Amino acid sequence: MKLKKWSLLAVVGALVAALALFGCSSGDDGAKKDEGGSAPATESGYALINDGKLTVAASLDFPPFENLNGDKPEGFEVELMQALAEEMGIECEYLPSTKFDTIVPLIQTGGKADVGVSGITINDERLEQVDFTDPICDVNQGITVLKESGITEVNQLEGKKVGAQTGTTGYEWAAENIKDVEMVGFDEMTAVYAALQSGQIDAIAVDLPVTNYYVKTAYTDCEVIAEIPTGEQYGIAVSKDNPELTKALNEAIKAVRDSGKYDEIAAKWLQ
Ligand code: ARG
Repeated sequence: MKLKKWSLLAVVGALVAALALFGCSSGDDGAKKDEGGSAPATESGYALINDGKLTVAASLDFPPFENLNGDKPEGFEVELMQALAEEMGIECEYLPSTKFDTIVPLIQTGGKADVGVSGITINDERLEQVDFTDPICDVNQGITVLKESGITEVNQLEGKKVGAQTGTTGYEWAAENIKDVEMVGFDEMTAVYAALQSGQIDAIAVDLPVTNYYVKTAYTDCEVIAEIPTGEQYGIAVSKDNPELTKALNEAIKAVRDSGKYDEIAAKWLQ
C-alpha cells in the first residue's frame, strides 16, 4: 500500500509531497526507494531489518575472511563489516553461521539479513539474484592434496574424487576443468578437509587464501599444489530491493580504503 502510493507519487513527480508524507530526509533516496524494500527506509534512505543495525548472514567457516573463535565471528570480512557499519553510523550484527549456498537466496528473499558476506565471488549467476557492492577482495582458487598422496599436478587428478563446498566457485571450477572428475560436495569447509584426511576424496578445490590458512594452521598433513588464476572478486550481497544500501556501503568501502583502515585490516588478516 505504502509502496504503491510512493510509486504513484514518484510518477507524477510529487516528490516533495512524498517526502513530507513519509519523513524522508533525502529527496533522491526517497525516490529510489520506490523500487521495493519492505522495511522502512532509514534517514539515509536505505532499509534495515533491525533499526540502526546491519544484520549480516555468513557461513563462518572461511578463515581468514570469517570464522568462529568460540562463538565469536572474526576475520578480515568481519572487521571490514564492522568498519563499514561504523562509517555508516550503525552497528553490525552477525546471524548464527548459515550454510554457504543458502546465503544468496536468503538475501534475495529478504526479511532475515541485510547483507550476505562470506567470501562471495561476484558472478553472473548470483548477479541475477542479488546486487553486489564494489569488490572488497581479489582471490584465485587453490588445489590441495595430502602431502603423502604423491599428487603434485592438477592433471594427475583426472578421474579422481575432488571435494568442495557445495555451491561454490571452487566446486564449479573443478567440475568443469578436471577431466572425468568425480565431485563430492560438503556443507562445511572443515568437513572437506576431514574427507581429504580420511581418503574419501583425493583433492580439495577452494579459494587459495582459505586453503593456505587451513593448511598452515590446522591441516599440516595437507599441501597446496596449485594456484588456479580464476581472478575472482568478493562482494557484499545486497537485496535488489535495497539499492540505497548498496550505495551507502560503496561509499563506506571507499571511505575505509581512503582512510587506510582497509589496509590495516588486510595487513592483520591477509598476507
Ligand atoms: N568464493 C567462493 C564462492 O563464492 C567460496 C565462498 C565460500 N564461503 C564460505 N564462507 N564458506 O563460491
